[in-house]
Amino acid sequence: MALNIGSVLILDGVGQNCGEILAQNGIYATNTVKITEEELLRTVSVYDALVVRSATQVTKDVLDAGKELKVVARAGAGVDNIDVGAAADKGICVINAPGANALSACEMTCGLIMTLTRHIVPAVSALRDGRWERSKYTGTEVNGRTLAILGLGRVGREVAVRMHAFGMKIIGYDPFVTAEQCESFHCTKMELDEIWPLAEYITLHTPLIESTRNFINADVFKRCKKGVKIINVGRGGLINEKDLLDALNSGQVGGAAIDVFEQEPPTDPLTWQIIKHPSVIATPHLGASTKEAQLRVGQEIAEQLVNLAKPGTYTTP
Ligand code: MLT
Repeated sequence: MALNIGSVLILDGVGQNCGEILAQNGIYATNTVKITEEELLRTVSVYDALVVRSATQVTKDVLDAGKELKVVARAGAGVDNIDVGAAADKGICVINAPGANALSACEMTCGLIMTLTRHIVPAVSALRDGRWERSKYTGTEVNGRTLAILGLGRVGREVAVRMHAFGMKIIGYDPFVTAEQCESFHCTKMELDEIWPLAEYITLHTPLIESTRNFINADVFKRCKKGVKIINVGRGGLINEKDLLDALNSGQVGGAAIDVFEQEPPTDPLTWQIIKHPSVIATPHLGASTKEAQLRVGQEIAEQLVNLAKPGTYTTP
């Protein structure tokens, strides 16, 4: 059975190639970068499919308003901004492009580990302000340090391979990956209780689901080495922001590189205290924001939509 997909609303700055591929296949596509929730609720009713990145919240209200919606496509990996339960109830198919931006997210993570370790951001700011502060920004090497990777999917594995090449000891946790699989990407699989006291760096690459919300919290920080560094290019919500701020203030966490936030863009003053903390480098959800990743994501999503619209490719449960 084919889905009747004649028109697609593309949001959140998804690559132009997505709409181009759809158009080449006879599917009408509108690409709108910015839209308010109100506008979306008003306009979504005429579209058969919706393509989003992380900015648009595809709530039950949006799904209800999308009278013709058959597919919601996430141009990326995480579907936590889509009410998948409500979509399933309405028979709306949710698709994503899980691997397409993994390398970019990995490279961002590795870059942040190095940037944090060598104090590059504050050193650049000081020099721009005319201050030549060499001794203040003495860093450490990552060689020989222990990096814990939580979530050993596509991104976590790529991070393991690259940071192992920098001489880091890689330990990791993922209930769905075996110890043998871990060996193939230079990682020693451990349980969480074993990880906390060993980790000098912790990087997060798990999806945000109910069981991983607030995964990293005050209790975890207490069990970690003093001065542990935290990197989050995964999802806001994996770290309890209040607990992170407390741990940064006490020095229990020695530094953090944060690309994703509980709310984006952040409005909570507490989140802004984290962003502006002297031990933090923060970026505005840039993990997947590369030309290459966006081209791959746009193409993969467009091809999936074209395939779903072809007879004989979609089977209902
Ligand atoms: C993802 O889930 O893959 C990323 O959040 C993608 C994005 O930045 O849109």
